[in-house]
Amino acid sequence: MLDQDRLTEEKEIAEDIRVGLIHYGKAREDLIPILQMIQEKHAYLPPFAIQLVAGHLDLSPSEVYGVATFYNQFRFHPPGRNPIKVCLGTACHVRGGDIIMENFERKLEIKEGETSPDLEFSLDRVACVGCCALAPVALVKDTLHGHMAPSKVEGLILQIDMAREKREKEKKDSDHADE
Ligand code: FES
Repeated sequence: MLDQDRLTEEKEIAEDIRVGLIHYGKAREDLIPILQMIQEKHAYLPPFAIQLVAGHLDLSPSEVYGVATFYNQFRFHPPGRNPIKVCLGTACHVRGGDIIMENFERKLEIKEGETSPDLEFSLDRVACVGCCALAPVALVKDTLHGHMAPSKVEGLILQIDMAREKREKEKKDSDHADE
């Protein structure tokens, strides 16, 4: 996404949060419901959201951030176009789920909970997704990939990259055709 697009989007999110805050009280116990409302609508808590919430509740941003980081339901980066979730429930953990996570981190050059700078990938852990027989398991968007291995990590990323390149090429070709 272009910087300008991102700025515009952030401005819209900030405005939406300002409007949303009007419906909430200013007591400390309003903090979690407010953070949940923002995350539900925008899928993450941007830094400026922390500032806005702090201003609304008359708390310091570090207090708000401290509470938000205490609960792992909140994310602080926008989800990528290809959100990757690695299951680290017991069965997956026992079968090397953490090695799969490390492999994704290394290949994507982001850490768990982060999003790549081009917003193409985000990486998160999830608890058991109910397919323990296929452990270790990862999800790309909503597609489940079982019996994950380091070589499969590489293959999945390659597939996504190739699909993206194809999409971009098709878009370029159709733009040329329109000229
Ligand atoms: S622990 Fe991963 S699917 Fe159950």
